Amino acid sequence: MDEDLEMLIPEETIRELVAGLAQRISRDYAGKDVLLISVLKGAAIFTTDLMRAMTIPSTIEFVQVSSYGNDTVSSGTATMTRDINQDIRGRHILLVDCIIDTGETLRFLFNTLNKRNPSSIEAVVLLDKKARRKTAVQVKYIGIDAPDAFLVGYGLDSADQYRNLPYIAALKPDAR
Ligand code: PRP
Repeated sequence: MDEDLEMLIPEETIRELVAGLAQRISRDYAGKDVLLISVLKGAAIFTTDLMRAMTIPSTIEFVQVSSYGNDTVSSGTATMTRDINQDIRGRHILLVDCIIDTGETLRFLFNTLNKRNPSSIEAVVLLDKKARRKTAVQVKYIGIDAPDAFLVGYGLDSADQYRNLPYIAALKPDAR
């Protein structure tokens, strides 16, 4: 393993977490037409694994959200840089992200997509970095709590690198 990294969640544990989430979601959405909306780029890998572990049919779309990264911006903290081009009115939406940190990304997506009148909208995340939360967001499906470290792997990046790692690791402070 790369000496800049410290193993946090091994591949086998990720597989078990994904399987557990997929089982709950498959049970809860049985008989419903669920649309997974994956938040690029980080959630791409988690979403496709989750979708394949689910035992009910589902469809998939991708969005991308860019944060202004500036707390002084008062009129919203995010913008959609990639949107979906289908009508979600009456649909059961499940937002899929790999991690919830401040909560701004998911809050923004809940607010934006709720205005389009879906039948339901929930979220699933693999990792919950609770210590960093700035805004209250209801996430129905959570894989595991994550420490307040710089996490990479399984979709998570540092300057766009490391997303391909099959495990999740902490990037050591000296390596950032
Ligand atoms: C990360 C992650 C989530 C978001 C969570 O995305 O993939 O989408 O941040 O943070 P928040 O709860 O504080 O909003 P990032 O903006 O790094 O883009 P990326 O997925 O393309 O790496």
